[in-house]
Amino acid sequence: MTTFAKSLDGLKICCIGAGYVGGPTMTILAEHCPQIRVCVVDISQPRIDQWNSDNLPIYEPGLKKIVEEVRGKNLFFSTDVEGEIEKADIIFVAVNTPTKSYGIGAGSASNVKNIELCARTIAKCAKSAKIIVEKSTVPVETASALKRVLLANSNGDVKFQILSNPEFLAEGTAVKDLEDPSRVLIGGDQNEEGLEAIALLVEVYAQWVPRDKILTTNVWSSELSKLVANAYLAQRISSINSISALCEATKADVNEVARAVGTDRRIGSAFLRASVGFGGSCFQKDILNLVYLCESFGLPEVAAYWRGVITMNDYQKERFAKKMVRSMFNSITGKRIAMFGFAFKKDTGDTRETAAAYVSKYLLDERAKIHVCDPKVTAEDMFMEFKYTLNITEDTLPELKSLISINNDPYDAAKGAHAIAIMTEWDEFKDYDYKRIYESMQKPAFIFDGRNILDHKKLIDIGFEVHAIGKTF
Ligand code: NAD
Ligand code: UGA
Repeated sequence: MTTFAKSLDGLKICCIGAGYVGGPTMTILAEHCPQIRVCVVDISQPRIDQWNSDNLPIYEPGLKKIVEEVRGKNLFFSTDVEGEIEKADIIFVAVNTPTKSYGIGAGSASNVKNIELCARTIAKCAKSAKIIVEKSTVPVETASALKRVLLANSNGDVKFQILSNPEFLAEGTAVKDLEDPSRVLIGGDQNEEGLEAIALLVEVYAQWVPRDKILTTNVWSSELSKLVANAYLAQRISSINSISALCEATKADVNEVARAVGTDRRIGSAFLRASVGFGGSCFQKDILNLVYLCESFGLPEVAAYWRGVITMNDYQKERFAKKMVRSMFNSITGKRIAMFGFAFKKDTGDTRETAAAYVSKYLLDERAKIHVCDPKVTAEDMFMEFKYTLNITEDTLPELKSLISINNDPYDAAKGAHAIAIMTEWDEFKDYDYKRIYESMQKPAFIFDGRNILDHKKLIDIGFEVHAIGKTF
């Protein structure tokens, strides 16, 4: 029976899943550990082809340059999942774990079928000791389930250790977050072999992360901490968004309130930007997962508490859309709306769970005509988001493609429009010539700033009717 690798020299790492997490995390690891061979594998040939091309499958500031520096040296992308598993000492699992859409826990539990599939493939191909690292966000106790699948499907001669090492990067700042993380969390069994595996992974990260930022825990704490970290972040956004509704009903300004509250050192200023609602592939999924766990463990009050974060987010998106309709005289049928931004946040082309899609749905129900302008989002991604998250296709809304399109010239998108809706906080939106835009629009010309990024006073002086989040004019 072989044991785990002892040193980093000649170590081989395989990462299953070449997505938003697998690609960037392994790129930074390879950059800092030239003595380690890193291979990212995926079942999707097009995705791997893109990682091996000049046109990477995801946009992240600064990522392309580093990929080009290390790709072909100690970083590789491949579809040979089984072959790379066989070679590897450490296997990261960074596959997607979406919310279940069917069966028990549909609508809240995480679907861990991809994770289990990886365990079965690893059990089948492993001929030497493997450390398996859960990088995906998973329900608590997934590591135990993984271990059972591995042991039940291997020949008993191969040793496995499962570690939990959740990823905390945010999209748009992934390179910065990975180069200089707030912390790295590693959970593992608190026995001799578990501690040995933890020590090896700590050594890998210590190549560029200060040791005092590398936290080690038991597996369950690590798995749960990931869900809780996302829940806390999302909770702050829902809290300030709830206050934005109160600000609109009074004469308070949510930015001023956020500043006043956030300067208390105990509260802090991060994640207090009121918005049209949070999006992204993880906040909602991970909170729903937490809610499901609480319900499964007979803690309905705890589940209801966290579900409130999602309820508030849904309310905020709906409130924004309804305000648009109400302000435009309760009738937007056939009206042209320029939507600036469709990505769920700036500096990414990711549209998963974006608030823009939810707001669009309300506007499309009213048969408005939407011209989307986003620096990174493609029409393909936008229609995919409608299809998978909101179940809107040309079958369900036959005129879909005549009602919404991508138009990447903002001046063209806004020409003849009744309103502009800011959905994403892209910096370039601040620099457009709004006087020129105003002159080309229908009057009254409305701006609904769902991110509070524009100079509202200047827009009002130009002649716009301005609506923002958590403030009135
Ligand atoms: P993603 O959809 O971008 O990528 C997942 C990849 O896994 C896909 O390319 C898919 O083809 C591949 N895959 C699925 N099953 C496979 C299998 N059996 N064998 C080989 N490849 C397989 O997902 P992502 O955004 O990278 O998220 C991955 C995980 O990381 C999720 O659990 C997510 O919650 C978590 N996470 C994501 C982020 C983020 O910013 N996106 C941040 C932290 C954590
Ligand atoms: C989030 C977490 O920040 C990461 O730590 C975590 O690893 C990741 O989820 C994950 O598990 O996937 P991400 O979703 O990429 O990262 O981006 P965030 O910056 O957290 O933004 C999420 C959403 O909240 C965006 O729609 C953003 O616009 C919105 N937001 C953020 C606000 O509305 N207000 C804020 O103050 C901050």
